[in-house]
Amino acid sequence: MLQTRPLHAGFGIEVLGLDLSAPDSDAAVDELVRQVDRHSLILVRGQALSNQRHVDISRRFGDLMTHVLKQFLTTGLPEIYVLSNVTEDGKPIGNHKEGWNWHSDLSYVAEPSMGSLLYAVEVPPEGADTLFASMHLAYESLPAETQARIRNLTATHSYAGYYGKAFADRAPLTEEQKARTPDVVHPVVRTHPVTGRLSLYVGQDIVKQINDLPADEAETLLAALNRHAISDEFTYRHKWQQGDLIIWDNRCTMHCATPYEDTRYRRIMHRTTVAGTRPF
Ligand code: SIN
Repeated sequence: MLQTRPLHAGFGIEVLGLDLSAPDSDAAVDELVRQVDRHSLILVRGQALSNQRHVDISRRFGDLMTHVLKQFLTTGLPEIYVLSNVTEDGKPIGNHKEGWNWHSDLSYVAEPSMGSLLYAVEVPPEGADTLFASMHLAYESLPAETQARIRNLTATHSYAGYYGKAFADRAPLTEEQKARTPDVVHPVVRTHPVTGRLSLYVGQDIVKQINDLPADEAETLLAALNRHAISDEFTYRHKWQQGDLIIWDNRCTMHCATPYEDTRYRRIMHRTTVAGTRPF
C-alpha cells in the first residue's frame, strides 16, 4: 500500500517513503504504473537513480521512445533525452529551452507518448519550475455545448512548426529529422485508453491548426481552448529539488517548463518517454 498525499485537488499525488534505486523496488514501480492512469501525475522525491535504473524503471511502464534530436542523447543510454543549459567540451549536453510551451510530449507523432519520467539531476535554487495541467479537468469543466462542438474535431500537430518557433536561432531540422516527424492529425478530444475518461488534446506551438473549420474560426477556437486548458484551477506548479522523479500521463495532461537565470545556474534533467498508442 503506497503512502500518498495529493498535489492538487483534482489530480496528481506525491508518493512518500519510496527508494526506487534498488531493483527490489520493482513491485512498488508496478504499483506506480497502475496509479498513473488514475492520478495522471506522480511525484517521488529524494531519489538517487543511476541512468540505467531510470531506464529500467521507465521500461516497466512500456517500450521507450528515442528523441529525434539525437545530439541530446548524451548519457550513453539513447532512451534518456537530456534537457540542460550545461555545455561540456564546447558542446551542449542537453536541449536548453525545451518545452517552454504548453504541450504533451511527442504529440507530433502518429502514436504519441503514453507518459514521461523526468528526473532532476541538478536544479537551480530558484526558477525553472514545471507547470502541469489536467486535461481531464479542462475538458470536463467546459460547457456542454462547447464539449459537443469540439467532440469530433481534429487538429494538426507539427514538430517542424514547433521547432521553427522554439529554436529559430538554431540550425534547421535535417532532412532525416523532418522525415521522422511529418505533421500528424489527432482528435481535439481524446479518450483515455485505460479509464475511458475524456480529455482536451491541444497545445501551444506544436498544434498548428484545428481542421474542418474556416481558418479564422479555427484560430479563435484553438486560442480559446489553449487559454482554458491552462487555467489556474487545473494547474499544479512543481518546484524541483534534486532527486525528484515525476511521472506523468501524456494522454491527459500538458506541461510547460519555465525560465530561470540560465547564465547563473545549471539545470540538468533526464527524461524518458514511454511509447503510446494512436489517440481516439
Ligand atoms: C519537458 O519535458 O517538456 C521539459 C519539462 C522541464 O524541463 O521542466
